[in-house]
Amino acid sequence: MRKGPVIAIHNRVVCLASRPSGRLVPDHFAIVDAEVPPLAPGEVLIRNTWLSIDPSIRLRLSAATPSGYLPPLTPGDPLVGLALGTVVESQSPGFAAGELVSHMFGYRDYAVVADGGETLGGAGSLTKIDPGEFAPQWYLGPLGSAGLTAYVGLFEILELKPNDVLWVSAAAGAVGSIAVQLAILRGNTVVASAGSPEKVDYLRNVLGVSHAIDYRAGDLKTQLAEAVPNGIDAYFDNVGGDHLGAALDHLRPGGRVAMCGAVSTYDTDSPEPGPPNLFQITAKYLQLRGFRAGSYDHLYADMRSEVGTHLADGAMTYEESIYSGLEQAPSALVGMLNGRNTGKTLCRLD
Ligand SMILES: NC(=O)c1ccc[n+]([C@@H]2O[C@H](COP(=O)([O-])OP(=O)(O)OC[C@H]3O[C@@H](n4cnc5c(N)ncnc54)[C@H](OP(=O)(O)O)[C@@H]3O)[C@@H](O)[C@H]2O)c1
Repeated sequence: MRKGPVIAIHNRVVCLASRPSGRLVPDHFAIVDAEVPPLAPGEVLIRNTWLSIDPSIRLRLSAATPSGYLPPLTPGDPLVGLALGTVVESQSPGFAAGELVSHMFGYRDYAVVADGGETLGGAGSLTKIDPGEFAPQWYLGPLGSAGLTAYVGLFEILELKPNDVLWVSAAAGAVGSIAVQLAILRGNTVVASAGSPEKVDYLRNVLGVSHAIDYRAGDLKTQLAEAVPNGIDAYFDNVGGDHLGAALDHLRPGGRVAMCGAVSTYDTDSPEPGPPNLFQITAKYLQLRGFRAGSYDHLYADMRSEVGTHLADGAMTYEESIYSGLEQAPSALVGMLNGRNTGKTLCRLD
């Protein structure tokens, strides 16, 4: 039998109001009052405290998503995304009131989540978090999905070797900034690209990369060739499109690409066709491998050990772009897709 919450709760949810055609704006969303349903056995009521704002939700706002990816949302549907919150009430033996948990029902004040229920491609199962010495929201960033994505991309997909010259794109963002630092700490030469002089300054002077590129400041291929004239061995692709094309031209024979994301193609109805130089893959026997970090959650412990050690001893740093209040979540998403973030984009609800 379902049991009602002990107190009356005012809940709000960010819904898709209308489907974007072209670039996303905050008006494509509406904040809607929503009921908190009574809990069924196995369910947990959570008050969300931190929302992870991730680019890939943009793909689900279009009428069709890439085959094999999560299905599109329909106008009126609530958004979903990784979140952190506190258990208010539990009908699951695995969770108790007061515990900190992560789950996939972000973009709302309160969430009812089934223990062992639906996840975002494996990334958003209901999980207890013990933050230890770290800020809890870091479990959405460097110690959460962003950290795992960087770790998997570098070490499982690219199988980064000590002397590899690596290029990381969207390098001042959540995943990119961790990937850059992990590779530098392992002794690799890193080229990092981002979209403003301020971000280039951050890459050079805060993250410590030797070669930083502002892709908006000039021709990307030329800048890459000037930065590392002898080419690159590995490319961590967060951007796709013209960045992937530049990498194919500039990879050495036998080079590898981790296809992490293609953010340059998300915020449009009609992405540019793929790079025209795909034959470089054959000519230089390159390896391009896609991955989704949610399939590698068994590596959380290894990643947290390595990243956590670096964060604790100060060898690694991490930026956050924080918006306050649920009503700011649409602006946070739009701002991040337009590059107005450094590090992890979060929306704080408490
Ligand atoms: N495979 C997985 O499991 C997985 C998991 C998480 C994330 N991802 C992917 O990883 C990538 C980074 O995600 P994130 O969460 O760390 O986001 P993020 O890098 O913190 O934010 C997105 C960044 O994309 C850049 N960008 C936007 N439009 C661009 C364009 N046209 N060309 C070049 N850069 C552009 C912007 O930076 P600039 O100012 O530099 O333009 C913006 O800051 C995304 O592609 C995402 O989908 C994949």
